[in-house]
Amino acid sequence: MSTQLFRNITLVDQNFNIQGGKQAMVVDQGQIAWIGLTSKIPKKLKVQKEHDLESRLVIPSFVECHTHTLFAGSRADEFEMRNQGASYLEIAEKGGGILSTMKATRKASTSNLLALTQARVNQFLAQGVSTLEIKTGYALDLKNELKCLDVIRQLKGPQIVSTFLGAHAKPPEFSSYELYLDYLAETVLPMIKKKRLSDRVDIFIEKGFFEKAAAEKYLIRAQEMGFQVTIHANQLSLSGGADLAVHLQAQSADHVIHLTEENIKSWASSNRTSAAPVAVLLPAADLYMKCAYPQARKLIDAGIDVALATDFNPGSCPTQDLSLVGLLARLEMKMTLPEVFMAYTYGAAKALNRHLQEGRLTVGRWANFISTEASLTDFFYSAGAMPSHDLFIRGKKINLK
Ligand code: NIG
Ligand code: FE
Repeated sequence: MSTQLFRNITLVDQNFNIQGGKQAMVVDQGQIAWIGLTSKIPKKLKVQKEHDLESRLVIPSFVECHTHTLFAGSRADEFEMRNQGASYLEIAEKGGGILSTMKATRKASTSNLLALTQARVNQFLAQGVSTLEIKTGYALDLKNELKCLDVIRQLKGPQIVSTFLGAHAKPPEFSSYELYLDYLAETVLPMIKKKRLSDRVDIFIEKGFFEKAAAEKYLIRAQEMGFQVTIHANQLSLSGGADLAVHLQAQSADHVIHLTEENIKSWASSNRTSAAPVAVLLPAADLYMKCAYPQARKLIDAGIDVALATDFNPGSCPTQDLSLVGLLARLEMKMTLPEVFMAYTYGAAKALNRHLQEGRLTVGRWANFISTEASLTDFFYSAGAMPSHDLFIRGKKINLK
């Protein structure tokens, strides 16, 4: 790929403060090779392509770090049931919830799943998402989980990060959670590793799902095999998942609505001494679940890295709207606009262990960015409306059909 020069751009610093003067960015082989004032562009530079961005704002593109985008079927009927008073756990206990999506996903063909998922991926791309995480976890048997990982591998558009969430719920074929986790650790994880289908493992630690002790054993085995781990933690109760994430130095602890002062304290102190998990906050799911929002202020003020994501899935969060997520963070979680931007770029990249490659526009990182005529305050303001923009991934402009 050629060397490109983007000049006359309005850049932000890493705290999303607008930098003075017209800036320029040189992109070589998809990576940022030079950044500085347009007036100081190195004279010797051999540029194949030049873009005058006419003072447009250029910011890092979004990293969507927690989604369950791959599924078949619909759970719209459950939404009505929940609105009429049934709880998420009651629906799950009756074989609805995750197990209902499991039935539809097992039945779906590879080509059908690919078409469904690609259409959703395109929706993320259209909102300025350059990197998208997608979890499995709606098949829960070897053949179909591998089918799902194969579908993820075929998706086009953004950079895709796959996460194995076999431990999402216990499939009916197993009599106990422990036996199922043993099966995953002994049979499924080695196969995923061998076929290089994913290097991330997630688990849903919650009452009525996986317990902390069994999850710990499973995650340690996954780490020993070289997987990064992440946890659906403390979503519906004080499940112990957040503490476990800190203890195992997981990449992230996600949801984390129910947190005691003690939880936050030990998380923050581990942050000072070692690699602490990123707190991935998912307020659109909290809106749909009608539960409390996470204590973003306390986490941020304690120095814990925070990310935002949709948690898009057919049950607890059937929306792909990044604007809504950021808007809720501003309205309900007292996050400032720069904090929302950071959480959706650098914080989210860190949750995927990709923060040295993307999430900020600095020399050496991928040229993954958005250029727009809008201003920063136009973002995360109107739900459902991402300001119009161009998306560049590794320096290449994405054409949206
Ligand atoms: O992140 N909590 C577990 N998993 C999803 C919900 C999945 C579903 O209901 O289908 C979540 O909220
Ligand atoms: Fe989730």
